[in-house]
Amino acid sequence: IRLKNYNTFGVQAIAKEFIDIQDEKQLIDLYNAGIFQKKFFVIGGGSNILFTQDFDGTIVKISNKGIQHFIEGSNIFITAAAGEVWNDLVWYCVERDFPGLENLALIPGTVGASPIQNIGAYGTELMNVLYTCRAFDTYTGQFKTFKNQECGFSYRDSIFKSKYKGRYIVITVTYKLHLHASLNTSYGAIESELALRNIKEPTIKDIATVVSHIRVEKLPDPSTVGNAGSFFKNPIIPNDQLEKLKLQFPHIVSYPIDAFFTKVAAGWLIEQCGWKGKEIGEVAVWKNQALVLTNKGEATGNEIFLVSEQIIDSVFDKFQIKLEREVNIL
Ligand code: EPU
Repeated sequence: IRLKNYNTFGVQAIAKEFIDIQDEKQLIDLYNAGIFQKKFFVIGGGSNILFTQDFDGTIVKISNKGIQHFIEGSNIFITAAAGEVWNDLVWYCVERDFPGLENLALIPGTVGASPIQNIGAYGTELMNVLYTCRAFDTYTGQFKTFKNQECGFSYRDSIFKSKYKGRYIVITVTYKLHLHASLNTSYGAIESELALRNIKEPTIKDIATVVSHIRVEKLPDPSTVGNAGSFFKNPIIPNDQLEKLKLQFPHIVSYPIDAFFTKVAAGWLIEQCGWKGKEIGEVAVWKNQALVLTNKGEATGNEIFLVSEQIIDSVFDKFQIKLEREVNIL
């Protein structure tokens, strides 16, 4: 099967087999058929992968559906199937006035992908709202429920990406929100957009709307321009390295983490190396956000990958910081 429509980069690749999962039982059938003993890869919305070659195995697409919630005191528990579109879940909450997910509006991808890389944007991370996540163990054929603390969350990372990479398939996620939670408007871009609209006491919907607006302005829409959001992670470096860099680059953009480490804006580093808006054949570095690589239409996965290599090299030459990819390379 052709994978062009199953990855938001819109690159062409062929998978030997492709299975669409609509319900949990199918996973057990596949397990019994031995599919998980051979090469496989799980996708949701395909918004965080880059195929650099054909896939000589089974692509398992998770498409189960359903969202339910119940309220207990001031807690809201929302359980969503992994195959639901993430932004639909955000608006399910916004429409019911459930606070907590509005800063994560318009992130591409599915519910099932949300814990894998601990999605985050505009001051919120998934680890702040995830309660439990139910996953299928492809090693044993059993289902297992992970509590938040068992997911090993950190910046754009979880146990599903590290220790258990390729083992568990997330099938439903339960989020725990609070009816009276205060809204998070501290991210600079949100503050300025609210001010511009003269909104002094924003509602949940205002924030979701403003965040969606900021994303549309800054990031290419994967339905028209192939991309996978931030291609790289923001690197985390020791504070003393930052201090040294500041002597030479006083405008470097950074966010303190703790007494030892600082996160640096990768988009700034890449822009300083002259990459912003640059085009190499069919690959372009996005004109409004240098952290995003785009497919102008006919790029191959490998061409995109090679541009990412060049970017890593030039950032390293200038800043001695080694960027890591956020996108999964296959
Ligand atoms: N910057 C530049 N040039 C650029 C891009 C950014 O100088 O081309 C500087 C600016 O100073 C800007 C700062 O970097 O103020 C931060 O940029 P931005 O607010 O766009 O956020 P980011 O750190 O580049 C991260 C996430 C995004 C998320 C935004 C907003 C990562 C890898 N990326 O980007 O997530 O939407 O914050 O919270 O952490 C994604 O993961 O796919 C993604 C889009």
